[in-house]
Amino acid sequence: MTTTLSGKRAVVTGGSRGIGFAIARALVRAGAAVMICARNKGDVEAAVDSLRGCGPGPVLGQTCDVSDPEQVQDLIRYCVTRLGRIDILINNAAAVRARKSVEEMTVQEWRTTIGTNLDGVFYGCHFAVPEMKKSGGGFIINISSLAGKHAFAGGSAYNASKFGLTGLSEALMEEVRHDGIRVAYVMPGSVNTGSRSTSGASGGSWKMAPEDVAEVVVNTLRQHPRCLVSRIEMRPSKPRKK
Ligand SMILES: NC(=O)c1ccc[n+]([C@@H]2O[C@H](COP(=O)([O-])OP(=O)(O)OC[C@H]3O[C@@H](n4cnc5c(N)ncnc54)[C@H](OP(=O)(O)O)[C@@H]3O)[C@@H](O)[C@H]2O)c1
Repeated sequence: MTTTLSGKRAVVTGGSRGIGFAIARALVRAGAAVMICARNKGDVEAAVDSLRGCGPGPVLGQTCDVSDPEQVQDLIRYCVTRLGRIDILINNAAAVRARKSVEEMTVQEWRTTIGTNLDGVFYGCHFAVPEMKKSGGGFIINISSLAGKHAFAGGSAYNASKFGLTGLSEALMEEVRHDGIRVAYVMPGSVNTGSRSTSGASGGSWKMAPEDVAEVVVNTLRQHPRCLVSRIEMRPSKPRKK
């Protein structure tokens, strides 16, 4: 028996485009009620409109900057108020563009990257876990990156945020596994989201598609409750030759 996602209540941060949008669409198609967030209001509204045609469940959107703890608290509160509870939290939103040496990177660029990619995930977990405990369990999936195990020149902030996400995810997994809350993290390599990635490359048919990550997320969520696939690495099968 696998877990059905029909009727589950899910929050996907950074769900207005790219990998987050693909995950949100896969969840809607699987019958879940989905709330997405991002900072740009117009993008959130356009994504919600597009997602509403994809499945039977309600789709909601909220503008939220995940680097602001009060906005993340409001997001989780809004989900519980509007959808009744939160079963699934996908921490996907990230600042992916800062590619500078430690010497060149400004303090603000460093803080934005860590504040979005690491603090933002902490805030999501911090406010969602008590709600999941109240309703008897849940599933948190943090979207990390292979940059969380392979450092590259110019990647200090991004690498630090994603290396840190491993520690956060694994510690949380140990803390809440007996409360019926499963925690996993996915480490994709290059994904063709149409935007520039941390590798500095854009486009590329050799890359994975956002839907590949979405499929892995949905399959992980569908695992039998006795089982937890807690760390997933994924990479293009035939990467561009260097
Ligand atoms: N693309 C890749 O090759 C790749 C590879 C490995 C891992 N990843 C990871 O996959 C995840 C998604 O990446 P992506 O390539 O799909 O990114 P993307 O196309 O740039 O989309 C990022 C999404 O996050 C939102 N976002 C950014 N900052 C935010 C903030 N402070 N608060 C709330 N929302 C925010 C964006 O909307 P707004 O700008 O409107 O806020 C957008 O919806 C990230 O965690 C990234 O590290 C990506």
